[in-house]
Amino acid sequence: MKILIVGGGGREHAIAWKLSQSPAQPELYCAPGNGGIGEIAKLVAIKATDIDGVCTFAVENKIDLVVVAPDDPLVAGMVDALEAKGIRAFGPSAAAARIEGSKVFSKELMKKYGIPTAKYETFSDPGAAIAYLEKSSYPTVIKAEGLALGKGVIIPQSFEEAKQAVQDIMEDKQFGDAGNRIVIEEFLTGREISVLAFTDGKTLLPMCSAQDHKRALDNDEGLNTGGMGAYSPSPIYDAAMERECMENIFLPTVEAMRKEGCPFKGVLYFGLMATKDGVKVIEYNARFGDPETQAVLPRLENDLLEIMDAIIDERLAETKLSFKTDAAACIIAASGGYPKDYKKGYPISGLENVEGAIVFHSGTAKEDGTFKTNGGRVLGVTAMGPTLREAVDKAYENVKKISFTDMHYRTDIGKHGVV
Ligand code: AMP
Ligand code: GLY
Repeated sequence: MKILIVGGGGREHAIAWKLSQSPAQPELYCAPGNGGIGEIAKLVAIKATDIDGVCTFAVENKIDLVVVAPDDPLVAGMVDALEAKGIRAFGPSAAAARIEGSKVFSKELMKKYGIPTAKYETFSDPGAAIAYLEKSSYPTVIKAEGLALGKGVIIPQSFEEAKQAVQDIMEDKQFGDAGNRIVIEEFLTGREISVLAFTDGKTLLPMCSAQDHKRALDNDEGLNTGGMGAYSPSPIYDAAMERECMENIFLPTVEAMRKEGCPFKGVLYFGLMATKDGVKVIEYNARFGDPETQAVLPRLENDLLEIMDAIIDERLAETKLSFKTDAAACIIAASGGYPKDYKKGYPISGLENVEGAIVFHSGTAKEDGTFKTNGGRVLGVTAMGPTLREAVDKAYENVKKISFTDMHYRTDIGKHGVV
């Protein structure tokens, strides 16, 4: 059987790695993939956003299953297009992916179905937004409506900063049409938790919880990034909190999407904040999170292919998930300068010395037999252990064996989780 994975980062490497262990022994393809993924899958030179290209390749090569991993092709309708060609595809439809693709859609959904989230207002007129911000208390939160490469959330500390953000997003179109409308919402405080869940539109099975680290530098300083590391499980997400989330958030979301006529099939990502008034939704994503996936999938004991098939065929109720009790930690090694300007093409050394850890490639290319840096986030080193401390220590021990020019990683991944 042939599987094509769409995407080319650490998340896609983790998905490919997990699928490569399936008893069905699938032949893996990845578009466009990266150097590391190329070790376990055939790389196909098609962009992850090229819907026609992916459809044509899948038809011509008789692909049995296409796994669409990133947000942009999901929101643009890649799964719908594949299905229209008779190709089995894993991931939500464009209508369901609006839960990530439109902040206005997701906020209205939560309001309508009573799912706890920050209070908000929506604006399509910059003047009205500024008038509202003049009377707001600070910090507040401004979100561009559409996809903005993870950079569409601004937390202004003052009216001046807020006014500038409205100018950048709505007038100067910093994020293009993604900024035609904005959501201004209440600033929540508390601990953040990521929960990824499998759902076939009826049944929802949460995976083990995880914690992302979004800022570039230690102590959560520096710029927001795609994620500099993750660990699993989150120490504050206990059985009682999982019950609360199931009752108030997870199941109501699945139900809401069904009632709206766009049942969600795939991986639904809940970005949560444990506030003093209970757990609230910060954001939904319509896909596996990155780097969380690199900490969560190594703990999953089930065959991922079987789960994906059960979701597509809407028989997830028959599945029982099982996770290793060991904790997992993933440290991202990034290019110096990321998330701003950085250079590519530096050779990576020391990979052969890694022991007792998995190296997922986020941004690498293989040239003349050597892996070279080819992106902002370069590698994700995941290790497991009976305790989070042991997992973190083993991950760092291995990160230190790897080097490339200007390599940067945070030294405090997992620190908040080690109690
Ligand atoms: P997002 O891109 O939606 O994940 O937002 C990026 C980050 O902004 C989140 O991980 C939070 O740390 C922060 N954030 C988003 N919304 C809020 C909010 N309402 N209150 C406080 N922090 C928020
Ligand atoms: N780790 C956050 C995301 O995948 O969007």
